[in-house]
Amino acid sequence: MARGELMKKLLASYGRDDEFRAVAEQIIIEEEQKNNKVLARSLRKTLESGPAPKGPQPMRSLAPLIPFPEAAKDLVERVEPIHTTKDVILSAANTRVFIGLLKEFRRADDIRRRGLPVRSKLLFCGPPGCGKTICAEVFSAELGLPMYAVKLDQLISSYLGETATNLRKIFDFARKQPCVLFLDEFDALARSRDDSSEHNELRRVVNSLLLFIDRLKPQGFLIAATNLDHALDAAIWRRFDEVIWFGKPDRQLVERYLRMKFRNVPTAFDVTSRAREFDCFSYAEIERVCIQAMKAAVIEKRKEVREKDLNTALLDEKRRRAGRSQLATQP
Ligand SMILES: Nc1ncnc2c1ncn2[C@@H]1O[C@H](COP(=O)(O)OP(=O)(O)O)[C@@H](O)[C@H]1O
Ligand SMILES: [Mg+2]
Repeated sequence: MARGELMKKLLASYGRDDEFRAVAEQIIIEEEQKNNKVLARSLRKTLESGPAPKGPQPMRSLAPLIPFPEAAKDLVERVEPIHTTKDVILSAANTRVFIGLLKEFRRADDIRRRGLPVRSKLLFCGPPGCGKTICAEVFSAELGLPMYAVKLDQLISSYLGETATNLRKIFDFARKQPCVLFLDEFDALARSRDDSSEHNELRRVVNSLLLFIDRLKPQGFLIAATNLDHALDAAIWRRFDEVIWFGKPDRQLVERYLRMKFRNVPTAFDVTSRAREFDCFSYAEIERVCIQAMKAAVIEKRKEVREKDLNTALLDEKRRRAGRSQLATQP
């Protein structure tokens, strides 16, 4: 790559440790290839003796960055991780699955050398607001891989023939770039082929999607997410190495979530004692209640959140939910 391009990349990766290192490595390799051995050695020494990243860092593998392919440019977007493991609540079962996947990824070479497969295609299912997207983000960060979300509106072209071409570009991208490729609202693509209301062309798209998933050996992970698992084509399920269910939190998980949300906010009452009032709420709904309660205290210039703040916020959320279920039962 031209030196100027590398310099631009280096500057653009400022603050993103993994990327910065990958570009720096690229520069060093180029110097080695140009036979500038002394410079290359000295650059490597500088890179290696740089300051350690702040705070406890999970073990990370370095993902080499390939030049971003023009072909996929409009079809995927980079998701910068803003959450960490401290921000997510997972059931014990899901925690186990994620830890297993992380360990497997870190020992992928050894596992493959033994002729064993490494799980890399994941399907996230469950109602909205229960953690599919946030977990994909945190999982990518833990893996040390960049996350790219597929832009569905760009992918599904009004010309269905083009949708299959777009799919090919995206899967090509995931084959080359070590990353987590996140396909949200997967049901929009993978709708059942039996759905008679659907166009013949769409059936062809589903067929090519199945083929692409089958053939894909991602360098990182393919994560597809859906709220509507019942709408998925039956042939989709076995294409995924792992299916992870994100349900609404039970009482214990609600308690943990409330504790986490109020970890830095003084309260005049024990928030966890209110957990039972959030039965059948999604995390996103509970979060909205917590935020509204905290804002009420700010508006009244109080340090502490009071019980009445939570009561009002909860009533408001219930009103919102009631409105939705009424609409759903209208003819
Ligand atoms: N398991 C969870 N742990 C912590 N926060 C969650 C969890 N699930 C959802 N949230 C909160 O709700 C918001 C929406 O969640 P999201 O992951 O986008 O839901 P989904 O993709 O399942 O519709 C998140 O940004 C987060 O604040
Ligand atoms: Mg989502």
